[in-house]
Amino acid sequence: MQPRQWISVTTICAALIQACLTANSLPEADKNTSLPRQPQANFQQYAGYTTVDEKQQRSLFYYFVEAEIDPASKPLVLWFNGGPGCSSVGIGAFGEHGPFKPSGDILLKNDFSWNREANMLYLESPAGVGFSYSANKSFYDFVNDEITARDNLMFLQRWFDKFPDYKNRDFFYHRRELWRPLCSTACTTHCPIKTEVQSENNSIKKLKFETVK
Ligand SMILES: *[C@@H]1O[C@H](CO)[C@@H](O)[C@H](O)[C@H]1NC(C)=O
Ligand SMILES: *[C@@H]1O[C@H](CO)[C@@H](O)[C@H](O)[C@H]1NC(C)=O
Ligand SMILES: *[C@@H]1O[C@H](CO)[C@@H](O)[C@H](O)[C@H]1NC(C)=O
Repeated sequence: MQPRQWISVTTICAALIQACLTANSLPEADKNTSLPRQPQANFQQYAGYTTVDEKQQRSLFYYFVEAEIDPASKPLVLWFNGGPGCSSVGIGAFGEHGPFKPSGDILLKNDFSWNREANMLYLESPAGVGFSYSANKSFYDFVNDEITARDNLMFLQRWFDKFPDYKNRDFFYHRRELWRPLCSTACTTHCPIKTEVQSENNSIKKLKFETVK
């Protein structure tokens, strides 16, 4: 990406954060009808923080765009940019396959956006990546795959509480090669295709995990 585009991405992200700092836990509060200088769009977009550890004040940031056409019939795709340590919002959503691409100071429609086919959930993980954070900074020295997996599972469970309509959707996740932690008990590195999985609490056992190659 060019430096000017990065400036746009930063502006957009600041706007997303601004919009959700005042938000409560209802998805309506996370809804943002329009990003600065975006072209007209006919799908819903949401952004917000989901706390994964109240005591340590650790919170993960997400950007969610519903499918352009008939979102109710489309699957849910959880996207991790991986790295580890790479922002899913800065790279995946606004540099690769999100609905908009920055061009100078404006946003253009991305004709190859994945939300033409799916409801796309971009997650910044673990805390410390992108806009996800831990108030206890020593977390950044201790974080490992297991903690990340646990946080991601917690995020997902709470996200589904916000968006219950998505609980029974076909669910795919995509991670970059080096990015394995999703949820330690719900899903291991090698998710069998279309296998029903069970979490610690049975609370997301109806999810179907499928890897996208
Ligand atoms: C969306 O974000 C923009 C930029 O921060 C803000 O002006 C607008 O009020 C937000 N809209 C909603 C519905 O939150
Ligand atoms: C901050 O996190 C570290 C590592 O996880 C932990 O040992 C420490 O007790 C935490 N500090 C506070 C004030 O909770
Ligand atoms: C499982 O459920 C218990 C109580 O309902 C809750 O305290 C715990 O955080 C849950 N575990 C996960 C991983 O969500």
